[in-house]
Amino acid sequence: MTENHYHDVLIIGSGAAGLAAALTLADHMSVAVLSKTGITSGSTWWAQGGIAAVLDDKDSVESHLNDTLVAGAGLCHPNTVEKVVSHGKESIEWLQSMGVEFTKIEGDKDFLHLTREGGHSHRRVIHNQDQTGKAVSSSLSDRVLEHKNIEVFENRIAIDLLRQADSGATKVRCNGAYALDLESSDVELHQAKIVVLATGGASKAYLYSTSPEGASGDGIAMAWRAGCRVANMEFNQFHPTCLYHPQARSFLLTEALRGEGAVLKLPDGEPFMQRFDERAELAPRDVVARAIDHEMKRLGCDNVFLDISHRPAEFIKQHFPFIYEACLGLGIDITKEPMPVVPAAHYTCGGVVVDEHGQTDLMNLYAVGEVSFTGMHGANRMASNSLLECIVFARFSAQHICQNIDQIPAPDYVKPWDASQVTHSDEDVVISHNWDELRRFMWDYVGIVRTDKRLRRALRRVQLLNKEIQEYYSNYRISNDLIELRNLVVVAERIIISAMQRKESRGLHYSLDYPELSSIAKDTIMVPINFAGQDMIISRS
Ligand code: FAD
Ligand code: SIN
Repeated sequence: MTENHYHDVLIIGSGAAGLAAALTLADHMSVAVLSKTGITSGSTWWAQGGIAAVLDDKDSVESHLNDTLVAGAGLCHPNTVEKVVSHGKESIEWLQSMGVEFTKIEGDKDFLHLTREGGHSHRRVIHNQDQTGKAVSSSLSDRVLEHKNIEVFENRIAIDLLRQADSGATKVRCNGAYALDLESSDVELHQAKIVVLATGGASKAYLYSTSPEGASGDGIAMAWRAGCRVANMEFNQFHPTCLYHPQARSFLLTEALRGEGAVLKLPDGEPFMQRFDERAELAPRDVVARAIDHEMKRLGCDNVFLDISHRPAEFIKQHFPFIYEACLGLGIDITKEPMPVVPAAHYTCGGVVVDEHGQTDLMNLYAVGEVSFTGMHGANRMASNSLLECIVFARFSAQHICQNIDQIPAPDYVKPWDASQVTHSDEDVVISHNWDELRRFMWDYVGIVRTDKRLRRALRRVQLLNKEIQEYYSNYRISNDLIELRNLVVVAERIIISAMQRKESRGLHYSLDYPELSSIAKDTIMVPINFAGQDMIISRS
């Protein structure tokens, strides 16, 4: 039997965005938080570098705004950027009030230590050594778990959003979601007046990514199926420096290493970034990742190197203890030798289109954090601006919900999940095979450097896979892998089609067929056929 849950607000995802939204709402209403695995799951936990905010008197909001716009290559929405960066200091103070600790200046404990990363013209990255995400995630999850108005559902994967047409009204609204309990294998119904998507990005569409857990684009796919627009999906960010080691495929080496002097070198020891950009190692990420890709292809080598061994060993161990220990465990002493590195998929700049309150196209559905497209990051996100956006938009969206919740009617009856027509598959190999195929052709054909021919090839494959997976989904019992695959194929198709539509090279999208920057900067907005506002209830067919 389907279990039914009802709360005022349902938040899908327990990263920085979901937890910040929950804590801002919970003094005023009942909140459910769904998490795919444990409450600290998601990319947030793994964030290393920090959170960008203007705290230094010599720095300014204008400078943070300007650096973000430059990194975003003409596509940032200036109003959004202004709103986010001007709430930086307040967001850091809010996090501290929730118990998050940040590294202080050695010898002056009244001031937070500020580090530097690519694209920033000042030191403005607040951090907790090289494990900022762990500090944020553990404090926020502790606060959430002790709040009496928040119920946390771990090991639940949301499958699809519920849409309900109001009687006599022309608009449909979101009023919950179906979720699979990964322990019992039962599908539950979670109803709410308002749903907040906080499911993170979609880097798992690529074979190699920096997130050990991977982000499978569930929220983007669910919102698309429910009739929401998605935008700028071609701008997938590749982080320049992921450790290249057979036993650690997804280990990030923070940009703060370069901020503190680490140099990128070729296998023969020659530094090369100055040849590509006068900002060298601290150029925005798209420039650095493309330079590495270029050199690796030119020399036919598997990786380049990142070297910080010229800095004092004590300094390295004090600022980067996590990276130092992890590398040492793999036989690399970073105080004495360089680290082998390659670029890897890291961040989804596009996502579900939202307005200034985080509202999507579907009434009563909000999206916050990496799943959303706010216009903040343009064609290339600047380092440490993501966690900032998570906190600012989560809190703004929550405040907007608080103002409006009383006018929203309780959801109507929804029919329970129907699994009567499906059977157990005896060929789960189809799922694992399609997983590999999808992520490999995305890596090979839709990566750092693109061409029309490669994109056409990728589109043919993704459309075939989409059909096959949809058939499989309709006939067999669902599982975590099948749900993620069904979502990733939708997201991958959106990435490919968006990339095909962009006939220029800008920020993270680089095409050998269109190497020039167009004089007109335009977002790539995709509109689903069931665009919210038209009546359609999600069904399993
Ligand atoms: P996430 O933290 O990814 O959380 C998503 C949540 O949604 C998870 O709880 C997951 O379980 C849940 N979820 C997903 N799908 C479902 C579903 N179907 N049903 C139920 N639950 C679901 N940014 C910075 O600003 N500074 C940094 O220093 C930094 N370092 C980074 C280092 C690494 C290794 C990585 C991978 C990213 C880094 N980023 C950094 C980016 C930043 O961490 C992320 O963009 C940000 O944490 C996203 O937060 P989020 O809350 O939107 O999503
Ligand atoms: C890093 O520490 O290099 C990641 C920072 C980010 O993605 O913003």
